[in-house]
Amino acid sequence: MNNKEIAERLKSLVQLDIDAVHAYGQAIEHIDVPNVREQVVAFQGDHERHINDLSSVVRNLGEAPPELTKDFKGFLLKAFTSIRSMTGTEGALKALKSGEELTNKKYSEARTWDLPVNILSIVQRNYEDEQRHLHYVNQAITDRVWETEAAKK
Ligand SMILES: [Fe+2]
Repeated sequence: MNNKEIAERLKSLVQLDIDAVHAYGQAIEHIDVPNVREQVVAFQGDHERHINDLSSVVRNLGEAPPELTKDFKGFLLKAFTSIRSMTGTEGALKALKSGEELTNKKYSEARTWDLPVNILSIVQRNYEDEQRHLHYVNQAITDRVWETEAAKK
């Protein structure tokens, strides 16, 4: 891939992470279990870091990265819609699960792109964050954290 092609691919990942930040922002408003909320806020921070790291690579390649607008571009629209239709911690986690499945899929694909090794290592690190997010969300749903003692306080 030439620089232009690499930049285009990376821009699509940045947009995905921008959508994820918005999806997390929506979800956080619905999460009323303090320790779950804390985790999800930290995950949102990971997505912000992905945006910053990949955006600086895009700039180094001579392109302009997508801006952090208030609008969704549609990558995570399904997750976003389901957050709106469900309520509380349970609904928010289930919506995040579908969003995380998508980010995991995209980052997993990105690992197979023919990228320079220094860029590939950023993609790999981001993918590992995504795996961690999905694992946490799945576990929280399995544990029905919204029914735990912390949720009742
Ligand atoms: Fe994530």
